[in-house]
Amino acid sequence: MNYKKNILITGGAGFIGSHVVRLFVNNYPEYRIINLDKLTYAGNLNNLRDVENQPNYTFVKEDICNLERMVELFDEYNVDGVIHLAAESHVDRSITDPFTFAQTNVMGTLSLLQAAKEKWAGNFEGKLFYHVSTDEVYGALGFDETLFTEETRYDPHSPYSASKAASDHFVRSYHDTYGLPIVISNCSNNYGPFQFPEKLIPLFIHNIRNNKPLPVYGKGENVRDWLYVEDHARAIDLIFHQGKLGDTYNIGGFNEWKNIDLIKVIIKTVDKQLGNPEGTSDHLITYVTDRAGHDLRYAIDATKIKNELGWEPSLQFEEGIEKTVKWYLDNEDWLNSVTSGDYQRYYKIIYGSN
Ligand code: NAD
Ligand code: DAU
Repeated sequence: MNYKKNILITGGAGFIGSHVVRLFVNNYPEYRIINLDKLTYAGNLNNLRDVENQPNYTFVKEDICNLERMVELFDEYNVDGVIHLAAESHVDRSITDPFTFAQTNVMGTLSLLQAAKEKWAGNFEGKLFYHVSTDEVYGALGFDETLFTEETRYDPHSPYSASKAASDHFVRSYHDTYGLPIVISNCSNNYGPFQFPEKLIPLFIHNIRNNKPLPVYGKGENVRDWLYVEDHARAIDLIFHQGKLGDTYNIGGFNEWKNIDLIKVIIKTVDKQLGNPEGTSDHLITYVTDRAGHDLRYAIDATKIKNELGWEPSLQFEEGIEKTVKWYLDNEDWLNSVTSGDYQRYYKIIYGSN
């Protein structure tokens, strides 16, 4: 079949990537979607069982750092669009293993950029390199400071956010130096199905279900802005199709929560759905040593994408968290399958137990 576009989505077996792949495979049968993923501990092909047999879907297991293979793949699949999500994504891991973050997030992004530049050289018409990034590149806000806009100066603090900031700079440099058609988005904290249970929301749902402690970093006062993952995928779709070349778009939920307040909502929702009396799992809250360099607050001003592309979050947080808790409780097999092997070893190193 002659596809209208051949889109390489990197990191498609991960949390957000799997939602983006699903959306593009289902909504655009005229596009061929090539999901490129190394399948690290965070990548899981079970996230895509419902689309894996669709004719316009192909999976390639590869490391984005392998420049030679990236160049070959551009040829093999006649790639004309890239949506780049592959990354090491967990801040705590970046604190114990910064080199892996520099390798994948910086060098991996660079090899994709180089492959796109080489293969698209002289004919950038109809091509796009879309880089998916994070609000963490902007650093931390005080409680009274205004939100992150697209003009906020980069000020990353963790090895993770430093590596994402570096990758954003490389993407812009390929636009400014070689004219590569790029677009970047910086999104706030996502939540929803298929998120690896090392991140706050799935970890805490899993632990409440198993009557395990809930490790709250510091005093639980840090603030995050939460967005349902399918709303992020919808924003990526809009930016991919209508975003202005060379531009940045901030994506956020206008939905700030102090960690401890969010944790109380999670506990209440899980207890309710398990049929436990309210308050049953409150005793699991355990204050632990704070994350090193823990950013106080992230909050996105998503006015630009609203005004230019008409995007807004579709889901109220209460509905999103009910749906999310239900999904994790209904999908215990998925949770058990991903919380084994490497993950157990890592968890023991970090917390001293499982
Ligand atoms: P994730 O950790 O769930 O998934 C990352 C995926 O990338 C995995 O499937 C993994 O196997 C793959 N991968 C890792 N290294 C690779 C390599 N060297 N080569 C090929 N594939 C590799 O991450 P996520 O939470 O879905 O985040 C996806 C992207 O979105 C990341 O770039 C992240 O920085 C960004 N982001 C995440 C959030 C969030 O809240 N999770 C918010 C804003 C932006
Ligand atoms: O803001 C976007 C970013 O959101 C993404 O770029 C990252 O990939 C993603 O991991 C996420 O980063 P955070 O560090 O904010 O997410 P995490 O789920 O790890 O933590 C959320 C908050 O909860 C944070 O303030 C740390 C705190 N926390 C986290 C864990 C895992 C705890 O108190 N206890 C925990 O066990």
